[in-house]
Amino acid sequence: MRFLNAGESHGKALVSIIEGLPSNLKIDTQFINYMLELRQGGYGRGGRMKIEKDKIDIFSGVRGGYTTGAPVSFLIWNNDWENWQKIMSTGEDADLESKKVTRARPGHADYAGALKYQQKDIRNVLERASARETASKVAIGSIAMSFLKEFGIQVSFCVTNIGGAQCPEKVLEISDTIFENPLYCPCEKTTKDMIHLIDKAKEEGESLGGIVQVIVKGLPPGVGSYVNYDRKLDSKIAGSLMGVQAIKGVEIGMGFEAGINPGSKVHDEIFFDKKKGVFHGSNNAGGIEGGMSNGEDIIVKAVMKPIPTLYNPLQSIDIYSGEAYEAAIERSDICAVPAAAVVAGSVVAWEIANSFMEKFAGDSMEEIKNSFENWQGIIKSFTGGSHE
Ligand SMILES: Cc1cc2nc3c(=O)[nH]c(=O)nc-3n(C[C@H](O)[C@H](O)[C@H](O)COP(=O)(O)O)c2cc1C
Repeated sequence: MRFLNAGESHGKALVSIIEGLPSNLKIDTQFINYMLELRQGGYGRGGRMKIEKDKIDIFSGVRGGYTTGAPVSFLIWNNDWENWQKIMSTGEDADLESKKVTRARPGHADYAGALKYQQKDIRNVLERASARETASKVAIGSIAMSFLKEFGIQVSFCVTNIGGAQCPEKVLEISDTIFENPLYCPCEKTTKDMIHLIDKAKEEGESLGGIVQVIVKGLPPGVGSYVNYDRKLDSKIAGSLMGVQAIKGVEIGMGFEAGINPGSKVHDEIFFDKKKGVFHGSNNAGGIEGGMSNGEDIIVKAVMKPIPTLYNPLQSIDIYSGEAYEAAIERSDICAVPAAAVVAGSVVAWEIANSFMEKFAGDSMEEIKNSFENWQGIIKSFTGGSHE
């Protein structure tokens, strides 16, 4: 499966095409719109999120609520377009002056992007570099989540750290009620500290980053492969997460901690039980060994840097004249870590669904389900003969 999207932050719409979805998959637009709403939520977002209520508008590949096997295309309209029509017009009538940006923001794509694409206005860079594009990824990831659910595979996600306020316990379960928390954080006490930090950052014209976590339950062993770098499940997940704006590091399972512990404290012992089949005594590997799922929960963390646009701007230059100025200010979030959690869950779901499709390939849901059930039987008979 593959997807492509296009669209500017203040353009008319985000345009997306997914190719390779099997036929007869139910497309739950209510769920997709709910996920889009979650991406727009979370304490610490900027004014824009109040203007826009993202909704998916499907154009092809779906009929009567089910995929047909044809490419699925959809738009997410930008409700703010009204205020930007003149500035973002694709025609020669565009107002290219009134929202021109020349003072690069440290931490954003502004300087290198304008230089690379030889643009006289940083706006032509920031409009596409912007994380507005992640709305498309969330819609696509929601479809992947619905697909995985058909096979009993659940993807959940949360926030575990904002600006240094860290959940004290390891998060191994994420409840469905997580979204009642304003920061999608499982720890109430930490949430209070996080809110305090965000309020303080707002007062000081600062911004904050943090850490998000994704858990995938129910994935059978054998998804992904060790045979080449581009088929490894961990490589695909990490690559996709690093493709999300402002994500600067990814950990699978124990992650960086594995480097400071001896082997006996890192590797998960293997057991067999007639009832449970093969299982591990711990899950430091985060459910992936040799680029393949090993039957345990997939546990992934990603770190988001603080938002680059600061209301109390850093020193920078006018990139055309070279003169020293404070960086430009675009309407911006103070902290978008909860949104990043939704995006992280979405891109992980997409990668898992993709590797899943590679293993249980089929053109229709029926065909994939047959292949999946067959694999369950193979797993059961592989170790210790047949067991319940
Ligand atoms: C959900 C989300 C929302 C974001 N919102 C903003 C924002 O409001 N202002 C901003 O300057 N950067 C924002 N960013 C981060 C920038 O898009 C990102 O830092 C920039 O494109 C440069 O890419 P890089 O950080 O990956 O190098 C956001 C990122 C995410 C994931």
